[in-house]
Amino acid sequence: MTAREVNIGIIGGGLMGREIAAALQRWPALIDHPVRPRLTAVCDIDPAALDWFDEIDTVTTKATDYRDLLSDSSIDVVYVAVRHDLHQGIYTDVIASGKALLAEKPFGIDAAAAGAILEEIAAEPGSFVRCSSEMPFFPGAQWAIDYVRSGALGTIVEARSSFLHSSDVDVTKPISWKRQARFCGEAGVLNDLGLHTWHIPLRLGWTPDQIYAVLQNIVPERPGPDGVLVPCDTWDNAVLHCWATHEGVRFPLTVATKRIDPGEKNTWEFEAVGLGGGVRFSTKNPKRVEVFTMADIPGIGREQAWQRLDAGSRSVWPTVTGPNFEFGFSDSILQMWAVFLAEREGLLGHRFGTARPEEAVITHEIYRAALRSHADGAAVRL
Ligand SMILES: NC(=O)c1ccc[n+]([C@@H]2O[C@H](COP(=O)([O-])OP(=O)(O)OC[C@H]3O[C@@H](n4cnc5c(N)ncnc54)[C@H](O)[C@@H]3O)[C@@H](O)[C@H]2O)c1
Repeated sequence: MTAREVNIGIIGGGLMGREIAAALQRWPALIDHPVRPRLTAVCDIDPAALDWFDEIDTVTTKATDYRDLLSDSSIDVVYVAVRHDLHQGIYTDVIASGKALLAEKPFGIDAAAAGAILEEIAAEPGSFVRCSSEMPFFPGAQWAIDYVRSGALGTIVEARSSFLHSSDVDVTKPISWKRQARFCGEAGVLNDLGLHTWHIPLRLGWTPDQIYAVLQNIVPERPGPDGVLVPCDTWDNAVLHCWATHEGVRFPLTVATKRIDPGEKNTWEFEAVGLGGGVRFSTKNPKRVEVFTMADIPGIGREQAWQRLDAGSRSVWPTVTGPNFEFGFSDSILQMWAVFLAEREGLLGHRFGTARPEEAVITHEIYRAALRSHADGAAVRL
């Protein structure tokens, strides 16, 4: 099969812009992918941020105005990684330009912005838009999804999905746009980490019907650019106690997003247990998947057992990487792009896909209900 060349442009050359640019360089690791992406253009309002992209020899355009990328007919797909308050304006402009869009979460600063982006998609027939969420592409996460879909849980008891950080434990860490509600959004950590925790539950059909939220702003001030303390007005931690339904049975679904969870560094976890079985996976031990079963143990008899499996490197799209090798964050980014570009070609089939705009919009409905729940101290129906 001859892979079709697709030219990519990046808007926002910060942390994620560079991560995506680097991941795309490993494209030859994918086996028989229908597309060969070439990163040709990058835009950042900060010219200094553009310098790093000199590392990538396919980049021929460096711009400080994103409209230069949108008017360039050679660019097919745009990835946007900018502040949340800029999502709506830039995303809708990309969609209106007729280019495909991989948008960063939270897909607009709030529910109104996400709704406006969805309207623009509806107004542009043939547009192709997905939202970034890479953690479900860890092989262990894929096994957990397949386990749940197999029906092995039986009658579900409960499920948990979490994304846990500790970088904000340091109270001297300077303020950034990510910790200011006017740039990050009123939902704070939910905007920051929420979609990562909701992608799998929503794909499994676990849209909650009721939410009770516990939100914390643990560090209300941080040093500004001159060292003087300024308000840090975003929620740091959010635990959402929800009711959802699996195979006709209502169950408690707990979804935790925390910026301040001492000891955790980008720990993404998923667990589901039922009367028939259970499964859990955490990126803390990226190879390990645990499944619950009743086992006949020699000399002991029939006992409950959490069994440990090693997941190896196989994710959604096959790679040349040895199946027993370890998988990491940048591999998950590569898999997300493999899936995104294959789906754009109509060649993903039944494989697990990148988060859809409708799913991102639901997450904002969930965050809105969570904010109301916390303010009222009461459960909110969705
Ligand atoms: N998927 C993930 O795992 C993940 C991780 C971190 C952040 N994110 C998301 O990615 C997005 C960006 O986060 P980041 O950590 O890369 O931020 P960042 O601050 O590191 O980078 C943002 C960049 O955008 C540039 N920028 C600002 N306005 C611009 C404009 N009008 N045109 C072009 N460039 C502009 C800034 O100069 C900066 O270089 C956010 O939506 C964030 O939530 C996703």
